Amino acid sequence: MGLLGCGNVGAALLKLIEENQVSILDRSGEELEVVSVAVRELDSVRPAWVRRELLTDDPMSIVQDPTIDVVVEVMGGIHPAKELIEASLRAKKSVVTANKALLADHYFELEELAEEVGKDIFFEAAVAGGIPLIRSLRVSLAGEQLSRVIGIVNGTTNFILTRMDEDGLSYDVALALARQLGYAEADPRADIEGVDAAAKAAILASIAFGRKVRFSDVSREGITKVTASDFEFARRHGFTIKLLALCERIPNNDGGAFDVRVFPALVPRTHPLGGVRDAFNAIFVEGEAVGELMFYGRGAGGAPTASAVLGDLMDVAHNLRFGTTERRIDRKDVVIASPDKLSSRFLIAVDVKDRPGVLAQVAQVFGDNGISIQSMEQIGYMSEARLIFLTHDSLEKDIAKTLGQLEELDAVRSLRQAMRVLGEEA
Ligand SMILES: NC(=O)c1ccc[n+]([C@@H]2O[C@H](COP(=O)([O-])OP(=O)(O)OC[C@H]3O[C@@H](n4cnc5c(N)ncnc54)[C@H](OP(=O)(O)O)[C@@H]3O)[C@@H](O)[C@H]2O)c1
Repeated sequence: MGLLGCGNVGAALLKLIEENQVSILDRSGEELEVVSVAVRELDSVRPAWVRRELLTDDPMSIVQDPTIDVVVEVMGGIHPAKELIEASLRAKKSVVTANKALLADHYFELEELAEEVGKDIFFEAAVAGGIPLIRSLRVSLAGEQLSRVIGIVNGTTNFILTRMDEDGLSYDVALALARQLGYAEADPRADIEGVDAAAKAAILASIAFGRKVRFSDVSREGITKVTASDFEFARRHGFTIKLLALCERIPNNDGGAFDVRVFPALVPRTHPLGGVRDAFNAIFVEGEAVGELMFYGRGAGGAPTASAVLGDLMDVAHNLRFGTTERRIDRKDVVIASPDKLSSRFLIAVDVKDRPGVLAQVAQVFGDNGISIQSMEQIGYMSEARLIFLTHDSLEKDIAKTLGQLEELDAVRSLRQAMRVLGEEA
């Protein structure tokens, strides 16, 4: 094999291969030999087990090396990773990648190219790191009519939200802590704005539903607007707050439309996703015959991610040995469900001028749009009043209209929050 990238995942993979050489041979019947490792900086300090004589700063030399059967891409980014993967496939090498950002937009082209050249492209590590989710959806659950895949797929944001919940930290302090402990990158936007989770949602929805779901099909909200007072309210009402990736089939007469989105939501503490703490990931899969399944574990980190990559390598080795490839399906274009048909309970928080009659004005707007309120709280007095509403199940289009009208009320200073609530009403 040739390795493109030797950072967190690449270096952990080399260690795993070295430690497991015997069992790899036992299980796959193939010896896995690392021929070459591409990096950007040849002189950087690397772990002791990374053999310097294997390093090259010319990744194309790996692609062109006729002794290499499989290329593992763990360098990240779109370019030149995409061109290197394409060139590897064209050179009749199977590919294993962990690159969710690339797959979220280019998965189908790469899958079609792999099929055309009769090689494999595997990517178990691209979603939820070490959790064996992709293969479970693709192989074990291939006979299922899946209705919903929903979960926590970004460890950084789950860490931030857990600290806000359990330690009462503000968003800024929790983010600073995540950076200090290495859970958040120096530029955390891809995590906190939901970009990383949306890329994973696109991949999950494509695999779960056999459709072509691209990053641009996923609607996305991050966690930057979640406040300590949202958590106070959530706690009092038996909820916590999680960033969820949702892939759902909305039945219609034409094979289904699909809702694929990333959003922060109130999650009941009694729901299994409510108990997923810190940097862990968990994904709920619901199917007609199988019922509910939950996958839980470490969604990131060098070693767990490398474990998933090595699993893929074992599959590649098997397929090379028997001259076969993974089974493929013809994916249809996805139909994204119209937001007009979607409904949810909502938490809505508005900051208002504290003067007589304001509550009645605000409540009137909810009533005018047919939104029924389950509970309401006022936090703060004098000029700093915040009204927090929990609605009954409501159409999202009615919620959107309500929010628009609330913003226009003279008594409303600002709309602080509009967050979905997971689960049915008790
Ligand atoms: N880390 C995780 O927990 C995790 C989990 C799931 C998936 N992934 C995915 O796995 C991939 C790798 O992540 P990582 O955390 O290991 O990244 P990383 O630590 O930043 O490592 C990237 C590696 O690629 C090399 N590289 C980057 N651009 C290159 C280029 N143009 N030519 C040659 N080498 C190049 C770098 O070389 P230098 O060492 O010389 O800089 C480095 O060795 C990404 O796609 C990521 O999304 C990571």
